[in-house]
Amino acid sequence: MTQRLAGRIAVVTGGALGIGGGISRRLAAAGATVVVNDVDEEAAAATAGEITAAGGACGTLVGDIREPKVVEALRDRALAVGDGRVDILVNNVGDFRPAARTFLRSTEAQWQALYELNLLHVLRVTHALLPVMVEQRSGTVINNSTVEAFRGIPGHAVYSAYNAGVSAFTRSLAVEVGQYRIRVNAIAPDLADTPQTPAAAMLRGRDPALLRTWLPLGRFGAPDDYAAVVEFLASDDSRFVTGHTIPVDGGTLAASGWYGRADGKGWTNLPNET
Ligand SMILES: NC(=O)c1ccc[n+]([C@@H]2O[C@H](COP(=O)([O-])OP(=O)(O)OC[C@H]3O[C@@H](n4cnc5c(N)ncnc54)[C@H](O)[C@@H]3O)[C@@H](O)[C@H]2O)c1
Repeated sequence: MTQRLAGRIAVVTGGALGIGGGISRRLAAAGATVVVNDVDEEAAAATAGEITAAGGACGTLVGDIREPKVVEALRDRALAVGDGRVDILVNNVGDFRPAARTFLRSTEAQWQALYELNLLHVLRVTHALLPVMVEQRSGTVINNSTVEAFRGIPGHAVYSAYNAGVSAFTRSLAVEVGQYRIRVNAIAPDLADTPQTPAAAMLRGRDPALLRTWLPLGRFGAPDDYAAVVEFLASDDSRFVTGHTIPVDGGTLAASGWYGRADGKGWTNLPNET
């Protein structure tokens, strides 16, 4: 198999577990040298170990990406590993927690925490690494947004607002840096089976056969389902794609408001109808 990212230097924030772990493994398998940032030292070492055992190249930078000094250290580590180059930046860290039951019950401290977890570091890390890409006149930035940037999610209005910010940032920055042959895109996941949103917890004992009533592809996503799209966006196969957020959601966004009938005969937008 040809390694379509051979020789590229990639940085993945939150690259140890969940979707980020899938992305790190995929990019490395495609030939990129991956610098994994993660706050979980043990998980980062385990993922790096897996990558190198599989014949890939990987470095780690342990630290909380919300901290400016970690962003600086990540840039320095990436430049050291890449001998001055950075080709791929994946801004993956994000979380819907801390969550409140309703917006009315949420606090300003929670809004600030969600801002720092979902949007501020995306700006900071991109700001730190973009000059390298401008200098080399090439690069691709891939941000991790969510379907809830495009569809309402009760109880998580603030999280969805910051992720809409991630997608808007993606769009506008793409226009600004296209002249340097830098592309900026995002993915919008839904229903990933990860430590943040384990499928078993999401199902909470419900019959998995019922997934098809609201999820067209009828299953939760595995980290590699999202990583495959990130690999495409990182590669030259997407050379004429920039400024977009690609939903990777098993069809939930397309089906929003529609439910498969319990008898399996078609769909309804009146969920109480059997
Ligand atoms: N899980 C889903 O269904 C889903 C849906 C929509 C969007 N997303 C987005 O996808 C991204 C990844 O989600 P996931 O479910 O894989 O998350 P996860 O919590 O399962 O994994 C996150 C990884 O990032 C690391 N991490 C967390 N905070 C960090 C920090 N401050 N600094 C450095 N590393 C940190 C964790 O240790 C872990 O390795 C997030 O941006 C999330 O909002 C996920």
